[in-house]
Amino acid sequence: MEPRTSVIENRLKNINRIIAVASGKGGVGKSMVASTLALHLSQHGYRVGLLDLDLYGPSSHIILGVKNTFPKEEKGIIPPTVHGISFMSIVYFTEEKPSPFRGIDISNIILELLAITQWGRLDFLIIDMPPGIGDETLDVIRYIKRSEFLVVTTPSKVAMGAVSKLLTMLIELKKPVLGIIENMTITKSSFIEHEVQRLQVRYLGKIHFDHTLEESIGNPDALSQTHVMKDLSKILQKIKL
Ligand SMILES: Nc1ncnc2c1ncn2[C@@H]1O[C@H](COP(=O)(O)OP(=O)(O)OP(=O)(O)O)[C@@H](O)[C@H]1O
Ligand SMILES: [Mg+2]
Repeated sequence: MEPRTSVIENRLKNINRIIAVASGKGGVGKSMVASTLALHLSQHGYRVGLLDLDLYGPSSHIILGVKNTFPKEEKGIIPPTVHGISFMSIVYFTEEKPSPFRGIDISNIILELLAITQWGRLDFLIIDMPPGIGDETLDVIRYIKRSEFLVVTTPSKVAMGAVSKLLTMLIELKKPVLGIIENMTITKSSFIEHEVQRLQVRYLGKIHFDHTLEESIGNPDALSQTHVMKDLSKILQKIKL
């Protein structure tokens, strides 16, 4: 076994559930769902961690308005607490500079982040995944054995095409899929719901397109009051989160 694999298992052992928010497609709202999910759980009294694994385009720190914090070094690194959430992102190391990593670098960085971060005791670790079924997704499947997937799509046939591939892969690998969230809906179309049912995965519901969402970015109190949070809360009740 790779020495870091056992270190990672040890690091994550006091975390009750690990939920990766993923999609086969970019720009569908994974980071929004991951950040608001972490906020929702934290506001309901759970101990929550949020790990932004989007190494090329980290964005959870922008959504949650993370400023002036830095991990503490102590036999590894301790994530800072941001609005009640233990938060870790590559952005602490790359700052806002572009980070053009190659495939092998991606895997090494993920392994390193997982191996050095001391989450402590958590009820939930939420992972904001990058789009697609590349290295990051494969690494999460491989190194975080207990990961469960919450998959996000938009009402688009194009998005669903890519999401279907991710779902097929997760099903083949026997990874637990909590269900699919349809984000940024504008019409009442049931296309996605039918597609999801055809794949025998649970359809969790819609988050409507929220014209005022942009004004709340960077402000967790305002985010908590948005229609996105209200729609998400209803969805989470279905999976008892
Ligand atoms: N329900 C919604 N209503 C309105 N805007 C939304 C909604 N959900 C997400 N957005 C906006 O859509 C954009 C993309 O969202 P987000 O960054 O969360 O997507 P992503 O899937 O994480 O993208 P990437 O693949 O680049 O990581 C952001 O500007 C976000 O604020
Ligand atoms: Mg994102």
